Amino acid sequence: MIVPMEMTCSYAPEGDHEDPADGPRIFDVRDLSVTFNGRSVLRGVNAMALDRQVLAIVGPSGSGKSTLLRTMNRTLELTLDARVTSGDIHFKGERLYGNGTDPRLVRKRICMVHQKPVAFPMSIGENVLFGVRFHKNWNGRTKDEIIRSCLDRVGLWNEVKDRLSDPASRLSVGQLQRLCIARALANDPEAILMDEPCSALDPVSTARIEELILAMKPQLPIVIVTHNLAQARRISDQSLFLYDGQSLEQDTTERIFTHPKNGRVRDFITGKVG
Ligand SMILES: Nc1ncnc2c1ncn2[C@@H]1O[C@H](COP(=O)(O)OP(=O)(O)OP(=O)(O)O)[C@@H](O)[C@H]1O
Ligand SMILES: [Mg+2]
Repeated sequence: MIVPMEMTCSYAPEGDHEDPADGPRIFDVRDLSVTFNGRSVLRGVNAMALDRQVLAIVGPSGSGKSTLLRTMNRTLELTLDARVTSGDIHFKGERLYGNGTDPRLVRKRICMVHQKPVAFPMSIGENVLFGVRFHKNWNGRTKDEIIRSCLDRVGLWNEVKDRLSDPASRLSVGQLQRLCIARALANDPEAILMDEPCSALDPVSTARIEELILAMKPQLPIVIVTHNLAQARRISDQSLFLYDGQSLEQDTTERIFTHPKNGRVRDFITGKVG
């Protein structure tokens, strides 16, 4: 049984874990520490994400949310000064930081959607295919099949089917964010990480992304960093609270938002501190 704990982390690392009530842990972050230029940024973080669930990472600015997210698909180390100094992350029981692990394969299996959607300088259709070409990940699918199915999944097909050859830069920001998600889905990822995916979007586009997250959830575990506590409440099953590089509390979103155990979490959630 999962037992939330105060102050250190809610979830102590265990052996390969399966909770009959909640399903298996897909991500299991164990005592993870990270430095930038030798400065400690994450300190002994423990966290976990369950299959077919959304985990929201919340906490004050600078608490390490993006850093933690970027350790979860090994994109952090693309920043030269960043270093995982101890701990590990188990993904489906495999060590992401084990000696034999290929970081490029990790990035292919676990994709990232960023805060600011970026159109690659090519057509809408070619944007969808970008990662597939890069990883040679066709899996017997034709170009047209991939473009259509991925744009369909993000609700963009009808909006762009007559202009697939137009530059992606002509899309609205909301459409572009859905295109970025389609581009990620084209690689058939096993999990999706999202870093404030709605912060540049208007309320209507935000609602569409939230619907999309809920629609993807039965197939894919999703970890989302959000500043929007109402959004975390609406779409996540579990919430993790980070503070000053430490995981203070993780629990079901319902419990975190109604009965947080930690005083700092309570203050943050009730708006006492920002
Ligand atoms: N490339 C970098 N070099 C040095 N320090 C960095 C770098 N990126 C982040 N940091 C530092 O690491 C700490 C955590 O940053 P991080 O971006 O993970 O926080 P965050 O919780 O995502 O903040 P925000 O909510 O503002 O996005 C901060 O103190 C930040 O200044
Ligand atoms: Mg951030």
